[in-house]
Amino acid sequence: METSELVELLSSEGLRLLDSLAPYESKDDVVRAVADLRKAGHSPGLVAAVLSQSRLRSKAAAKFGPFAERMLFTAAGLEQATRLKVAARHAGRFQEAGVKWVADLGCGIGADALAIAALDIEVTAVDRDEVTAAIAAYNLAPWSNARVENADATEFDLAGIDGVYLDPARRDGVRRLNNPADWSPSLDFAFDLATRYPTGIKLGPGVDRDLIPPQAEAQWVSVDHDVVELGLWFGAVARPGIRRAALVLGEHGTAELTADADSPDAELGGLGEFLYEPDGAVIRARLIGDLARQLDARMISDSIAYLTANTALATPFATCFRVTDTFPYDEKRLKKELAQRRIGTLEIKKRGVDVDPAQLRKKLSLKGDASATLILTRVAGRHTALLAERVR
Ligand SMILES: C[S@@+](CC[C@H](N)C(=O)[O-])C[C@H]1O[C@@H](n2cnc3c(N)ncnc32)[C@H](O)[C@@H]1O
Repeated sequence: METSELVELLSSEGLRLLDSLAPYESKDDVVRAVADLRKAGHSPGLVAAVLSQSRLRSKAAAKFGPFAERMLFTAAGLEQATRLKVAARHAGRFQEAGVKWVADLGCGIGADALAIAALDIEVTAVDRDEVTAAIAAYNLAPWSNARVENADATEFDLAGIDGVYLDPARRDGVRRLNNPADWSPSLDFAFDLATRYPTGIKLGPGVDRDLIPPQAEAQWVSVDHDVVELGLWFGAVARPGIRRAALVLGEHGTAELTADADSPDAELGGLGEFLYEPDGAVIRARLIGDLARQLDARMISDSIAYLTANTALATPFATCFRVTDTFPYDEKRLKKELAQRRIGTLEIKKRGVDVDPAQLRKKLSLKGDASATLILTRVAGRHTALLAERVR
């Protein structure tokens, strides 16, 4: 967003107009809204700013629920923002550690700072991008214990601060930056602060594990089975004795697996009636072995993240399937087996086999009223097709 667009938006006319708009549902709504607003005498710049903000607010509801209606966003800021329920977990760590004043260094539109402020902790939110900082200031305005600075975090004076949070930018415009030295603020800067302050650092879930310092608590977080982040926690905001954690947020509520190190893999064993697909956070945290022991399950093949068992136990840490049929994986055979069962709706999952599910789906020419899940994997090292149904 350009500064001029922000200025239009933050005018009393702009904010009034934004709050008066009906939720944005289709392209037709937009065309109609543009025509109506122009007819009412509003400038083209203001109309564009207000409508694009209205669209961002609708999109933001997925991360912020009803709070989105009271917030402002940039497209990039919303994309990178922490979901409110995850930000609340971050903030809770500072509260439990008794931290009084947190610096959020690279605050974006202010999602993490907002959750910290809501817990009555003083927060200074810093962003070097002028428009982003102005938007964070708007979003944090209801909290008298929050202030926003438009500054470079790496030069910011931390006198009086007793906790630090960083969520370094890992994109340059549209490109994802793979080299941690290019992240901003850099990982070295963040790790240096972590030696001096209770510190939380949010990173992408797929980050190279060799980058994780041995003293950090590394917590992978998933929301509705989507792994959204790796949080590294240092000092008083890390939990004693925990180095690996998988926090799983979903319909079931919140559940967590923790350990003092990567867990040793479980035993390999024959395929049972049930197959578990562990949540991505458990896989990333390398806690599959612990999960297998909890479920009395075994691995189906070396380095394949599926577990199998003879009984199904309810768990928030994995999706459970009942295996109905098993045969060696061969495209012709698979096509025949699916046709015989009149399977027209097929969910395809794969692990440890080199198959493009979209290409395979085309070749299978599915027809029929039945549905199933197809799991292509290696069982005891052999390429195998499993037909399965979800266990609720
Ligand atoms: C990933 S976003 C933060 C998102 C935020 N945690 C949230 O949930 O809304 C990273 C932010 O850091 C800011 N940033 C990058 N380098 C910075 C620096 N050296 N000083 C201050 N801000 C910086 C970017 O402008 C961007 O807004």
